Amino acid sequence: MVTAAGTIDAASFEVRRDDLRQTRVVHETMDAEAVAAAGKALLAIDHFALTANNITYAAFGDQMSYWNFFPAAEGHGRIPVWGFATVEASGVEGLPVGERIYGYFPMASHLVVEPTRVSERRFVDGAAHRKGLPAVYNSYERVAADPGYRADREAAQMILKPLVLTSFLIADFLQDNGFFGARQVLVVSASSKTSLGLALCLRRLGVPGLSVVGLTSKGNRGFVEGTGLYDQVVTYDAIASLDATVPTAYVDMAGSAELITALHRHFRDNIVYACRVGGTHWQDLAGRLDLPGARPKFFFAPDQIAKRHGDWGPGGLEERFAGAWADILASADRWMTVRQVEGEAAVGAAYRQTLEGAVAPDTGLVLSLR
Ligand SMILES: NC(=O)c1ccc[n+]([C@@H]2O[C@H](COP(=O)([O-])OP(=O)(O)OC[C@H]3O[C@@H](n4cnc5c(N)ncnc54)[C@H](OP(=O)(O)O)[C@@H]3O)[C@@H](O)[C@H]2O)c1
Repeated sequence: MVTAAGTIDAASFEVRRDDLRQTRVVHETMDAEAVAAAGKALLAIDHFALTANNITYAAFGDQMSYWNFFPAAEGHGRIPVWGFATVEASGVEGLPVGERIYGYFPMASHLVVEPTRVSERRFVDGAAHRKGLPAVYNSYERVAADPGYRADREAAQMILKPLVLTSFLIADFLQDNGFFGARQVLVVSASSKTSLGLALCLRRLGVPGLSVVGLTSKGNRGFVEGTGLYDQVVTYDAIASLDATVPTAYVDMAGSAELITALHRHFRDNIVYACRVGGTHWQDLAGRLDLPGARPKFFFAPDQIAKRHGDWGPGGLEERFAGAWADILASADRWMTVRQVEGEAAVGAAYRQTLEGAVAPDTGLVLSLR
């Protein structure tokens, strides 16, 4: 909101780092002219997506430095999200006011960035506190130069794209390793968007004799079955009904100590690969566990990206992902409905629902604090 000539009332949604249920909205006055005079840019964040992935950023905020992208006052954190913004003020040559930007933002109405390495396609926020953080999060896309951008698909892009690149890479990693000898892949937290993307990517690979089984909670079973993306859907309380003699790999988006333990105790040495990816069940996150079967390993997407850049050469990965992305977009049109949420109170309510796992899996949340 512009309160006086060039002066902006910027709102930021913050959580307590030691208790993610406690939230507040902080207001600060930003002077657009001063931002431009300092050679920086003021981005007005039009909207951003919120899924369990962002809650995982918060749950791992200290361990994995997610709190360091958008610093807040002592004890509080600004959760990173993916979204779209418009340049509202700029002192940066070649980055005009009005330009549309896609990237990593706080849950806020505005962000001041210090663009460096400005090219036709992107720029990098060179703010001192972001140096040393993973480059992928510091890079902002100038959508006018992105051939894949479509204004009417902004919601799908910000909700799904950051998730399903990982889905694509996991499917590729498993295939690249002959599925470690597994004849079935179990996908834990099967109703999550990352899992649905994975199921679709595995299906696209068309591996003969490989079964893809979705594991989910009772309440989400009907939805998961309805997507038609898994060969079989099993609820968490029915893990014991699965044939324990089948060599099995699992991909775990839930991170739950209870579920991981149940899987290893059931399949024992027939767990031939255990791939940990996420923590949707953030209240029950597993640490190191002494269990039968393959030792769980965290999936590290940059390793597979680097390998495929080597194998496929420049543009090879992007070209292959573009095919998967087109299929995921078409598929998501059948199982995801976008819900727009505006204003401080509604954003707070949507955050709490996401935190508690109370957002229906067919919903894609798009929030705005403007
Ligand atoms: N490491 C990486 O590079 C990477 C990349 C992408 C995603 N991920 C991870 O993958 C996971 C899925 O993310 P997403 O954004 O795709 O999720 P999402 O679509 O928002 O997933 C929602 C589902 O997660 C489960 N869930 C959510 N909150 C819960 C809670 N409080 N308690 C119990 N279950 C809860 C429920 O599934 P069920 O009922 O089926 O369990 C729910 O339907 C996240 O942990 C994310 O961090 C990691």
